[in-house]
Amino acid sequence: MFRHSIRTFATSARRMDIVPVAGSKHINPQLIAISKAQGIAKGLSDAVGNTPLIRLNRLSEETGCEVLGKAEFMNPGGSVKDRAALFLVRDAENKGLLRPGGTVVEGTAGNTGIGLAHVCRSLGYQLVIYMPDTQSQGKIDLLRLLGAEVYPVPAVAFDNPQNYNHQAKRHAETLDNAVWTDQFDNTANRRAHLLSTGPEIWHQTNGKVNAFTCATGTGGTLAGVTHYLKDVSEGQVKCFLADPPGSVLHSYFSSGGKLIDRSGSSITEGIGQGRITDNLKGEVGVIDGSLHISDEKSIEMVYRCLDEEGLYLGASSALNVVAAKEVAEKLGKGNTVVTILCDGAYRYAERLFSRKWLEEKKLFSAVPERLHKYIVLP
Ligand SMILES: Cc1ncc(COP(=O)(O)O)c(C=O)c1O
Repeated sequence: MFRHSIRTFATSARRMDIVPVAGSKHINPQLIAISKAQGIAKGLSDAVGNTPLIRLNRLSEETGCEVLGKAEFMNPGGSVKDRAALFLVRDAENKGLLRPGGTVVEGTAGNTGIGLAHVCRSLGYQLVIYMPDTQSQGKIDLLRLLGAEVYPVPAVAFDNPQNYNHQAKRHAETLDNAVWTDQFDNTANRRAHLLSTGPEIWHQTNGKVNAFTCATGTGGTLAGVTHYLKDVSEGQVKCFLADPPGSVLHSYFSSGGKLIDRSGSSITEGIGQGRITDNLKGEVGVIDGSLHISDEKSIEMVYRCLDEEGLYLGASSALNVVAAKEVAEKLGKGNTVVTILCDGAYRYAERLFSRKWLEEKKLFSAVPERLHKYIVLP
């Protein structure tokens, strides 16, 4: 019995390219190399980043390209924004704006707040969050249970002094040893991606990357990754913005910075922008093009990624995957296209998988009939 199971394992080990080592252990050498390189994370902040780059097999076969997704949902706080949160806090420390026991204040309705909450707890800082009062009670509860002090305030435009970002800034100014981290216009955000996400993508692909695309909220991910990849490849890697309806960025980039037009609205969260943030300034002329992605396409891809790849993704990630597929089709077979899988569907499940919500948003028919089995909520 024992001999039989050893033989069976050895056979499957060969198939999986696993080499036998001393004794009865059979360990994949790649596992050892990765484990050694990772070592021990010295606290939560050391565990941010170094996420896997996942080949999206069905889309790769369909396009004849390598379509790869950076699994940012595997960060400790569950999203790409953990990277920005860490760099914003480290930047404030380095500038002497934040000392032990200090307070971080930010205006955010989503993942940046969650990332900051984890990072602040692990580094011993207080966190205060301002957000529009249109946000769900679930988000407020989550931030509070992660230790943040949360102020939901009336949802008004950015040019109104009562906008949540300006209130966050003023709150920080009233406290000693406190900083407003200002994710939209503080370029420490984009530096997070210039110094981590970009280099990771380059080395994970061994420099074999032809194109990168993602949507933007603050612009940190797109600008930071683009700058690194353009620099290291001497301009060879093509970089594209992916934009949802309701955002001005598609018109801005596709008109070479001349237009700032907005039309429609989107069900995606965390992406799309009404202005050119400092993190995105100077990117016209660097970005190679822009793709406008409809909610219908993003919703279909939420369900396709689940069914075909086993990936449970939020709508911004699905939009990115649609963009990666379209870039792959545009560049042609044999290219490698990378995008960002920003977060999972967990926080959005009650909408994305609800028949009533999909019908209300006129998106029910965007889900192919064969995938209706995943619409499990009323
Ligand atoms: C779900 C999600 N996707 C994408 C983004 C965009 O990332 P960035 O702010 O780096 O442009 C965000 C930003 O908050 C987000 O929450």
